Amino acid sequence: MIREGNKITIIGAGTIGSTVAYTLMLKGLAREIILINRTEGRARVKALDLAHCRTCTTETDIRSGDFEDSFNSDIVIIAGGALPRKDGTRMDVLENNINMYKDIIPKLVKYSPESVIIVVTNPVDIMAYVAYKLSGFPHSRIIGSGTLLDTLRFKYILSERFGIEASKIQAEIIGEHGDSMVPVWSRTRYLGTDLQQYLSTRKLILDYKGREEILEETKRAGWNIRLGNEHSCYAISSSIVKIIENILSFAEDMLPISTLLTGEYDIKKVFLSLPSFLHKKGVSEIGIINLDNEELKQLAQSAKVLTEYIREADSLLMHKL
Ligand code: 2OP
Repeated sequence: MIREGNKITIIGAGTIGSTVAYTLMLKGLAREIILINRTEGRARVKALDLAHCRTCTTETDIRSGDFEDSFNSDIVIIAGGALPRKDGTRMDVLENNINMYKDIIPKLVKYSPESVIIVVTNPVDIMAYVAYKLSGFPHSRIIGSGTLLDTLRFKYILSERFGIEASKIQAEIIGEHGDSMVPVWSRTRYLGTDLQQYLSTRKLILDYKGREEILEETKRAGWNIRLGNEHSCYAISSSIVKIIENILSFAEDMLPISTLLTGEYDIKKVFLSLPSFLHKKGVSEIGIINLDNEELKQLAQSAKVLTEYIREADSLLMHKL
């Protein structure tokens, strides 16, 4: 079944862009998908390969194109960008990716002035800020994929470690999609029961050391894939599709996505992830959840790290292309 009426443009026809397109087709979430890539030939063959699935997926109209073809998109996903070195950090590619955004955001805005932009490019919190600055869109219409990906990984790691079901864990990672991410242990539940309590009734131990190991494994997850000469694509694609389901109201979840803070937890002028509700115009509400003192401290530290990066982004934004 096709969900009527949605036009979605994906900028970047690499592994993430094409996996998102395929998942959207399987789920029938778009009437029309436009794939745009720096090298047009790649978008063309990817779109063709995907279109060949139509008999088995849904009647999604998928094509490659240029920004003119993206005209009046409801949602634009920016999945393109340079990848960090294997031994580097997501910040290594900031300058390169800002230059790319200087080129593409004005075109995106020209052809889809009412769209919601989903930023996937790393460093994602900073690139969401850059998209906000360059587009002039209301901040609610810019969503960074943020720590939703880390949250999926965190649930997976917990499920493996304790032999429980990932889909029945309620948990959130908030803050930066990066080293200063914050696991909200105080709200982590399994089947509605406090996780720690659930585990202790089963004689399973989650102590400080265990928590640190789980957090470290969550932080390293993307890099471990990168070290295997690949870059992650399935879990990030699942995150993007979840965001789209919520924008289109096929689901109503509180998702940790990167959004501009305007005073929540006394934090301003940075994009970072907090559990948020989405609707067709982007972020409808940021959920103010109860955090314990340690989590509040860590969130403030994450905001501080991102504020420093934003300073760097601001100076790069001032340079002409
Ligand atoms: C990830 O965490 C690279 O940010 C990307 O998989």
